[in-house]
Amino acid sequence: MKTQVAIVGAGPAGLLLGHLLRLEGIECVIVERQSPEYVLGRIRAGVLERTTTDLLDRLGVNERLHAEGLQEAGFALADGERLIRIDTHGLTGKYVTVYGQTEVTRDLMSAAPSRGLEIIYEAMNVGLHDVDKEAPYLTYTKDGHTHQIDAQFIAGCDGYHGPSRKAIPATVASEFELEYPFGWLGILADVPPCHEELIYANHERGFALASMRSKTRSRYYIDVPLTETLEDWPDERMWNELAIRLGPEAAANITCGPAIEKSIAPLRSFVFEPMRHERLLLAGDAAHIVPPTGAKGLNLAASDVAYLSDALISYFNKNDHDAIAAYSDRALARVWKSERFSWSLTKLMHRFPEDGPFERQMQLAELDYIANSVSAQTSIAENYVGLAL
Ligand code: APR
Ligand code: PHB
Repeated sequence: MKTQVAIVGAGPAGLLLGHLLRLEGIECVIVERQSPEYVLGRIRAGVLERTTTDLLDRLGVNERLHAEGLQEAGFALADGERLIRIDTHGLTGKYVTVYGQTEVTRDLMSAAPSRGLEIIYEAMNVGLHDVDKEAPYLTYTKDGHTHQIDAQFIAGCDGYHGPSRKAIPATVASEFELEYPFGWLGILADVPPCHEELIYANHERGFALASMRSKTRSRYYIDVPLTETLEDWPDERMWNELAIRLGPEAAANITCGPAIEKSIAPLRSFVFEPMRHERLLLAGDAAHIVPPTGAKGLNLAASDVAYLSDALISYFNKNDHDAIAAYSDRALARVWKSERFSWSLTKLMHRFPEDGPFERQMQLAELDYIANSVSAQTSIAENYVGLAL
């Protein structure tokens, strides 16, 4: 098979890129290791920046997003007692939309056939070849046969564990990484949210987040030591802990219910530079990971893809090689700012094992400063709704 852009990975990054390229008539194919059901089984964050919803609007993949997405005008930081509201809409004029990543993926998958976007699922042993030559190609096996896709570019949208990043020689690359000493235990339940807006809490006992998927489905998290497992956290213990950490106002409104999903995820900050090597271009989790505080993961994947599709469209329509050359620097400038915001919100809202009473006072002082400073709130709001592309 021959195409213009071969895309590895049918997560949000690969699907968005495929749609944006097809919209301009550029030929592309996505190869994905998993089945569609498996891809849709992954539960991830659910807060979309305007930059992300604008892309979905541009693609016309927005019917359910507008019907079911919740427009949020603000969110709260909590210090164990009070809620400090950040009026994101009042301070920036922008809303964020609560709409699960799983639903974004489902919508992009359903709209693929009508856009002429081919996705090859259950493609095993995907290999990237000649990425530093004029004619790169992918190989994969499916149904016992080996297949080859010749392309002009390969887009690595295959997440943190995919093979694309590894095809860039270590001699030209730099990696920046930070692992956090706790994980997030998440619970999804069909109960109404305890508050209209998200609450990120830093209680003496640890972090908690009250989020939602809809008016009848809630998503909550607490941080737990990496040594703990799901067996340590039966539903009842989790609900009790949430009520304490979120503070009295939220606790008064919490509705408990059985978990539909429960999982523990580690937290990591990671950036790989550069995001392009010759004819291989990386986007999304393949190139960077943020801790989930602030919900930037999917939004960063979307902004990468906005830059990358622009570059590829300029190349194919105007023979503009400079746009391809500029992609990595353009994307990384925004990546690093989202990394900074996610890291700083993580530092502000979590207790670290090495922290003593002094660090605790620093966190409380910062929260009190934020509570009383419109400038501080504006800075948080601007980052939370998403920096301009
Ligand atoms: N061959 C083909 N596909 C692969 C391979 C492989 N060897 N390895 C991984 N993949 C696929 C995965 O199965 C997955 O469907 O690549 C896809 C990558 O998707 P994501 O991990 O969702 O990454 P991305 O599309 O960059 O989306 C970023 O998703 O991971 C979250 O928190 C992250 O919200 C962020 C967003
Ligand atoms: C979620 O709803 O799953 C969610 C929301 C906000 C975050 C992370 C996760 O920062």
